[in-house]
Amino acid sequence: QASSIHWHGIRIDNAMDGVSGLTQDAVEPGQTFDYDFVAPDAGTYWFHAHNQSVEQVARGLYGALIVEEDEAPDIDQEEILLLDDWLINPETAQIDDDFDASHDRSHAGRNGNFITTNGDYQFSSDVKQGDRLRLRLINASNARIFVLNLAGLDGWVLAYDGMPLDAPEKVDGQFPLAPGQRVDLFVDVTAEEGEVAYLLRTLDEQLLPQAAFPVTARSSGATRGAPQPLPPNQSERISDLSSATAVTLRMEGGAMGRLSTAILNGEEMTFRQLADANQFWSFNGVIGMTDSPLASLSRGELVRLRIENETRFPHAMHLHGVHFREVLDDGQLGPLRDTLLSFAGRTTEIAFRADNPGKWLFHCHMLSHAEAGMRTWIDVA
Ligand code: C2O
Ligand code: CU
Repeated sequence: QASSIHWHGIRIDNAMDGVSGLTQDAVEPGQTFDYDFVAPDAGTYWFHAHNQSVEQVARGLYGALIVEEDEAPDIDQEEILLLDDWLINPETAQIDDDFDASHDRSHAGRNGNFITTNGDYQFSSDVKQGDRLRLRLINASNARIFVLNLAGLDGWVLAYDGMPLDAPEKVDGQFPLAPGQRVDLFVDVTAEEGEVAYLLRTLDEQLLPQAAFPVTARSSGATRGAPQPLPPNQSERISDLSSATAVTLRMEGGAMGRLSTAILNGEEMTFRQLADANQFWSFNGVIGMTDSPLASLSRGELVRLRIENETRFPHAMHLHGVHFREVLDDGQLGPLRDTLLSFAGRTTEIAFRADNPGKWLFHCHMLSHAEAGMRTWIDVA
């Protein structure tokens, strides 16, 4: 198959962004393409195929991309934990090769039946009581929103989607990780020698081990206090959004949605006709990529983008090339992110400065949804 590689979350030159059909042609079998770029920010990123991604990512064409800080933070052990959710056909014991199933495309996406960490369904790594671990979590699954929990670990969030928080946040209860998202945690092992600490996931109200950390010894060092923040990657603080350009993205469609008609390839179609074409989701009434972008921006323009989720499903909206902040209910701005979990029936606003020129894809990271319509782009001059 032809392919291309996207460097998810890296503020990259547009020509290196790896989106076949938008920033480059897909690279045919036997051909080569040199990706040559500077990684400007330290943090936890990943890379993955960006052509036929619903299949290529499901087959494992992805990896972690770690950019280290200039000065290593004070930790004892680091674990990169790539979470995935494979759909295995029980008859063949191979990856299920129906990548276009209309049920997946119209519902929650391609959910799997075999959940792994770094390809292992029983991932385990020995630790010492009292040690501080850095966990770099990456959700590489096609559609699963992991709901995670810590046990025998006392943790702080240091960064989301590669971007450090101003102040580490104590992990308190469960936290979601949507497809494409990352989180950097520092966790202190509180479980005792002989016990097992866990990263757990919640599934149908059950808590299941996602990664096990058997405690095989006791740390020799002294326990530390709360961690210091990681050095910031970006200095700009957006504070005043009054001059921001307003853009609206209305998401409609999917099973149990209210979409009656939408434009597909320039033609207005009924939901029935769309279903026959295996297309289910529209952005502002249009399905799939359009010739004109969602927004044409000048470089440096401040944008306030309103995302109206009028569907019955959550979506993991990923904007290429720039990190944004959610505009919270009280008007404050949330942490920098590149992928936003948008909940069914909710409206969310994000703000960003369009400082990276080029054509940037904006799509749902539930990859079946992207294939079934949830793709658009912004143009930064
Ligand atoms: Cu990680 Cu356009 O994707
Ligand atoms: Cu979606």
